[in-house]
Amino acid sequence: MKEKINKYINDVNNIVISNLEEANSFKNQYLGKKGILNQVFFEFKQLPGLEKKELGQLLNQLKTLAFSKLEGVKNNQKSSKHKALIDVTLPSNYEKIGATHPLSKVKENIVDIFKKVGFSVAQEREIEDDWHNFSALNMPQNHPARDMQDTFFIDLNPDKLLRTHTSSVQIRHMDIHKPPIRIISPGRVYRKEDISARAHCIFHQIEGLYIDQNVSFSDLKAMINYFLKSLFGKDLKTRFRPSFFPFTEPSAEVDIYWGLESESDYRITKGTGWLEIMGCGMIDPNVLKNVNIDSEKFSGFAFGLGIERIAMLLYQIDDLRLFFENDIRFLKQFQKAF
Ligand code: DAH
Repeated sequence: MKEKINKYINDVNNIVISNLEEANSFKNQYLGKKGILNQVFFEFKQLPGLEKKELGQLLNQLKTLAFSKLEGVKNNQKSSKHKALIDVTLPSNYEKIGATHPLSKVKENIVDIFKKVGFSVAQEREIEDDWHNFSALNMPQNHPARDMQDTFFIDLNPDKLLRTHTSSVQIRHMDIHKPPIRIISPGRVYRKEDISARAHCIFHQIEGLYIDQNVSFSDLKAMINYFLKSLFGKDLKTRFRPSFFPFTEPSAEVDIYWGLESESDYRITKGTGWLEIMGCGMIDPNVLKNVNIDSEKFSGFAFGLGIERIAMLLYQIDDLRLFFENDIRFLKQFQKAF
């Protein structure tokens, strides 16, 4: 009898119960009416008093063990039931998600506007040489226009510099592709400027280039008007002011009418209501010559604008440095913008 009970104790200890079915069959086998425990108790009752005393404890041990085994399974079951009861339709905890940087957002919007009318994106290196950044754009050595763009020189021989504008992409692109050309080129540019609320040594531009037969200034005007109205709103007033860029002739600066409704409108438009937005012009024949495109046969226009400036206007940001500091309090305001 003693060995029998010890064997049952051993069996119960070794039994692994992993689901409800196994729990039920364990219950029947050990604790059921005709189960092992009742059988052993029945046999136990028949024993003489002295043996009872000795085996009683062992039998109780088996009984407690069997019950606690079953209890353990029930508890496990309860906690997994609890897990299954989690309501997945409830709103989740707030997750910190990022936001598109305002400069990326503005860049994407501008690129999309031009893609709609057949422009494709061309990107080029930021480390340039003198030829592509200056000379080929009709700014030979000692040309005074070079002073307008204070340059970071990396090396002089062979010459290496950080591009001061995205106009260098025009040259790189025309070196390889011949007309018709319709490209838009966003990218980072560098100038040796003191950092302030209005200027930075790193900023972003978008360059546009269109070359084909019979492209005229009125095509340029129509394109820029389409672009600015798409970006700022349908009823926008624009004006083209004669200007000078070495790589375009004639050249113009484009202003938009911003209005004079608030104190800040007066400040940013210097009291005129007009805001300068971008430069543009018809490609100078010298530039076409530098990339071996026949200026008798082809003509084209180019334009360039600063992305920061547009973003500052659209989002009413008055300090350029905010774009580069990556302050989370600034950036998270753009989670829902646009
Ligand atoms: N590259 C000029 C700048 O950085 C901007 C510019 C003006 C680009 C007129 C052009 C253009 O393509 O036609 O100030």
